[in-house]
Amino acid sequence: MTTPSLIPVKPEVAARTRIDSEAYARLYRESIDDNEGFWRREGQRVDWMRPYTQVKDVSFDASDLHIRWYADGQLNVSANCLDRHLEKRGDKTAIIWEPDNPADAPRHITYRQLHEEVCRFASALKAQGVGKGDRVTIYMPMVPEAAVAMLACARIGAMHSVVFGGFSPDSLASRIVDSGSRVVITADEGVRGGRAIPLKGNVDEALAQPGVDSVEKVIVVRRTGGRINWFEDRDLWYGDLIADASPDCPPEAMDAEAPLFMLYTSGSTGKPKGVLHTTGGYLVYVAMTHELVFDLREDDIFWCTADVGWITGHSYVVYGPLANGATTVMFEGVPNHPDVDRFWQVCDRHRVTILYTAPTAIRALMREGDEPVQRWRRDSIRLLGSVGEPINPEAWGWYYRVVGEERCPVVDTWWQTETGGILISPLPGATDLKPGSATRPLFGIQPALVDAEGRILEGATEGNLVLLDSWPGQMRTVYGDHQRFIDTYFKTYAGMYFTGDGCRRDEDGYYWITGRVDDVINVSGHRIGTAEVESALVAHAAVAEAAVVGFPHDIKGQGIYAFVTLTSDSQPSEDLRKELVQTVRACIGPIASPDHIQWAPGLPKTRSGKIMRRILRKIAANEHDQLGDISTLADPGVVEGLVNNRLIR
Ligand code: WTA
Repeated sequence: MTTPSLIPVKPEVAARTRIDSEAYARLYRESIDDNEGFWRREGQRVDWMRPYTQVKDVSFDASDLHIRWYADGQLNVSANCLDRHLEKRGDKTAIIWEPDNPADAPRHITYRQLHEEVCRFASALKAQGVGKGDRVTIYMPMVPEAAVAMLACARIGAMHSVVFGGFSPDSLASRIVDSGSRVVITADEGVRGGRAIPLKGNVDEALAQPGVDSVEKVIVVRRTGGRINWFEDRDLWYGDLIADASPDCPPEAMDAEAPLFMLYTSGSTGKPKGVLHTTGGYLVYVAMTHELVFDLREDDIFWCTADVGWITGHSYVVYGPLANGATTVMFEGVPNHPDVDRFWQVCDRHRVTILYTAPTAIRALMREGDEPVQRWRRDSIRLLGSVGEPINPEAWGWYYRVVGEERCPVVDTWWQTETGGILISPLPGATDLKPGSATRPLFGIQPALVDAEGRILEGATEGNLVLLDSWPGQMRTVYGDHQRFIDTYFKTYAGMYFTGDGCRRDEDGYYWITGRVDDVINVSGHRIGTAEVESALVAHAAVAEAAVVGFPHDIKGQGIYAFVTLTSDSQPSEDLRKELVQTVRACIGPIASPDHIQWAPGLPKTRSGKIMRRILRKIAANEHDQLGDISTLADPGVVEGLVNNRLIR
């Protein structure tokens, strides 16, 4: 079955849309021509405790870099996500929680209940001495208490740093140290796909490492009741704190540019960086994009399947939906447990109207065939979304035809941890769809394609994706390392924000993201820096040198391929291979496990000693007939050896 390469806006969708294609074109032009006026109006989406008079104060010039939005305004994010809905939506469900095991009862939490719980927990944090500017690490499973913890931090002006529950104690430790967190909020255990994850045990292990000494308290949510160790003077039960705390906790008035959270993400070099987002601009941006891209209605049941440990979970499980007074689904489990029809079961059970998930999940479910999908009705769904990595047209077509029965538009949304919210995406009532294309920029967003020298390319072309101007949801700094922020994003091309992505633009002005052009690998929609995996590998005593590249993977989008040179007294063996995989899992987490490790007696290097990853990528992709010029290598002979012993054929 083939999917057409152009799918016009459906008449049914066009009939009820607030923004049709003409309105999009007009509003987009206006938003660029009078950018400040546009954002001045959009800022009114949220409630301000002190109204802003300033709107935009931005320079992308590396020598004078600053990004400030609504700078003299004050507001509180939790008040916007909770208090302001109480009058009209107090009894509306804010969060539907679907547990890992479908035999267990889901939870429905109203805005009023969520408000009370957040206030209580915020009071409890205050009683522990947590206040404005303090950092709190959240290492939690997908349970409502994770959202409560985030909102409670926002209420009292503390910054949260959510660390994905799949990261190892080592990764958790380095993030705690970098953020200088005083409190860690966790659960006894997480549950995913029927398996328990020892979150509290991992926290204990992280805090026992030398140099991890900022943490005063660990707050533990009881999820499974499983056995854990307990440190009397450090550990506190969340349930006890909530029970004793005051439900009265007025929200702090925060400056628009006060930090809201940091979230660690991988870059092309060095350790993961703490991407910092601030209060006002971030909230305006996620509220706007959540409403526009999903054409949000009051009675929608919105399900974003991302974990709160990632930016997608921050912006479109928690902050965007709650700022808009929507009902958001939080799913604890995985797509294939207990069976591969779980997603569709959840859609029917909760009458989901908008489903927002990742290509890797779509591809994995597509492989199981149409039958598991057709076991369920899915008649409540009206819109499908995709995020996190390029979606191949085949997966797009299956999502559209089989899941959405050609009734539901598919919005392929391109954005990044750094951008806070969606930048390029169709609007369901305005944009004709092309499978595999994120289509066009949202209002106020100015993408451009540049060549290697930073010259802007016009028309239908391919190049590096940059943004020429700021938007309120843009990250403001790398926590603790502002210079790294400037160097990473604003030095490659002067006066522009560089995304790290390659992109094609077609004759209709549609954008097609082709993937990372730097040393970041996108594995199942998760960003992994090759440098991180390499440093994990060389941490093993048998490894002299390692070079890691991505390769095309049917389900994960990209897989991890490692070339490893052993020390002279070590021998390759299956046991050693397993040990190295284990080392990476311990240093980073299971998501960074190499798919392939190839023993490499030597690595292709330039005469100055730089590893030529371009060549390794070709070998890993089994495209060794396209190696290009290897004559500049110090020892061109190593390439032939690697090609002959490649693992993918
Ligand atoms: C990739 C996730 C193609 C891209 C929100 C980007 C995409 C990186 C898409 C950011 C998409 C995200 N099409 N590629 N619709 N969405 N990406 O920070 O390479 O986890 O730079 O943010 O994912 O990943 P991050």
